[in-house]
This record gives sequence, structure tokens and C-alpha cells, in this order.
Amino acid sequence: MYYIKIEEQKYGDLLVLKDIECRIGEGEFVAIMGESGCGKTTFLKVISGILEDYNGEVYLQGEPLHRKNSGILTRIRGERLGMIFQDFQLIDFLNVRENIKLINNSSTEGEIDRILEKLNIQELKYREIRKLSGGQRQRVAIARALAGNRRIILADEPTASLDSKASAEIMEIFKMLNEEGYTIVMITHSPQIASYAGKILYLYQGNFNTAVNLKELDQNDRLKRILDIVGRRYEESLAAQSIG
Ligand SMILES: Nc1ncnc2c1ncn2[C@@H]1O[C@H](COP(=O)(O)OP(=O)(O)OP(=O)(O)O)[C@@H](O)[C@H]1O
Ligand SMILES: [Mg+2]
Repeated sequence: MYYIKIEEQKYGDLLVLKDIECRIGEGEFVAIMGESGCGKTTFLKVISGILEDYNGEVYLQGEPLHRKNSGILTRIRGERLGMIFQDFQLIDFLNVRENIKLINNSSTEGEIDRILEKLNIQELKYREIRKLSGGQRQRVAIARALAGNRRIILADEPTASLDSKASAEIMEIFKMLNEEGYTIVMITHSPQIASYAGKILYLYQGNFNTAVNLKELDQNDRLKRILDIVGRRYEESLAAQSIG
């Protein structure tokens, strides 16, 4: 579904991503991990067509995103990709329905009702965002991402502003969506949150040479596996610093 090859991505002189080649299959649930500043958000911006300035190729469902003009990229994003952020990015003084309509102008009331029901927030339809809890806001952001029949969710630290209970509730929603066939690419710093995914891509020194399949493991073994990788990479980075 996604084929991604990034030879080099730079901000000025700062080389962030290099020699990345990976595929993300339809219906996969992938977690992206890695130290702060290693380029996770940058990677998500590349595959969502927000960032256009890199050497490489990105194909989404067979369609190239590279070398496309930003109008076309905005349309592709609007039709296929649901974006979710740590700070929700909702309009505070508008209600839930209005926030969904703002991005999905052609969504019908029936569609909005169906999605709100699925996420168990139907009673919040006419509530202003500023009167919602963090967990409720993130569910609204998910509703907005799903409207327009978009089947791919790109989430940048979706639980970073939430407590552990609300985080677990959001992950249960992601799990349900993934079981229904939605593709999810999610950035997180939390091994616990990452353990909901079927695969971890660990971004280190510009690429994903550390990838782990978690599908066959139970929840406990998943967590152990992730902690093992995170710990190992952490020690390597300390060693690299002391040499440097
Ligand atoms: N627009 C930009 N212009 C210049 N440098 C940038 C820009 N955006 C990010 N960077 C730099 O690129 C590097 C990667 O940033 P990025 O935001 O992708 O990291 P991240 O892995 O998402 O970090 P975090 O876990 O803290 O969110 C950082 O060194 C950052 O300072
Ligand atoms: Mg980031």
C-alpha cells in the first residue's frame, strides 16, 4: 500500500532521514519509535505529502506522492489520510459536528452520527470542544480523521497529552479500527502504547534498520521485546556520545 524510499531528507545542512526503504501493507498497525529529535514527525510529514523537499520516492496505493504539486497532495491527503496529533488540533469554540464538517464538507449527518456512535461519543455531537476532556477531544479528532471514508490513519503521539486511562481507551479504539481493516501508522515514545501495534519501526541514525514484528507475540512478550530494543538503542547512543 505504501512503498517508501527516502535516500536523503535534509533541513538545510541537517541530515535527518537517510537510506530508508520500507513498505507498509494495507491493514497494518505500525508504531514508529525513536529518540526525541530523530526524525519521526519528519517521516510522517514525508509520507503524508506535507513535506515535499527530499530525495526519494513515496507511493501510496500505487500513486506517486513525490514530485506532485501541493494542490494534488492536499487533495490526496483529504481523500485518503486521517491525521491525528498530540494536541488534537481542533477548533475550541466550534462544536464536535462543526469540527468534523470543517474538514469533511460533504459528510452527511448520517455519516457523522455513525462515526460518533462507533467511537461512543454520540451525545457530544453539539458540545463545544472547549467543554470536552482530553480523551473526548482525541476521540473527536479520530472521528474527524475517519469521516469521508478515509481508511489510513497517521497519528503523531496521539496519547502524549492523555493520562494512562484515556490513553488505553484511545488504543482500544485504534485496535478496533485496525481489526476492521484500517491501516494505522502511529508515533509514540511509550513502549506500552507501541505494544498495541503489530510492528515496530525504530528510527535510529536516519533509518529503520531496527524493525520488529510483534504479531505472533502475546502482550507481555511484546512489551519485553520493545523494552529490549529501546534499552539497547539507548545504551548505544550513550556509548556513541562518550566516544564522540
Ligand atoms: N521545519 C524544520 N526546519 C528545520 N529543522 C527542523 C524542522 N523540523 C524539524 N527539524 C529538526 O529535524 C530533526 C527531526 O525533527 P522531528 O520533529 O522529525 O523529530 P521527532 O523524532 O519527531 O522528535 P520528537 O520525538 O521530539 O517529536 C530535529 O533535529 C529538529 O530540530
Ligand atoms: Mg515528533
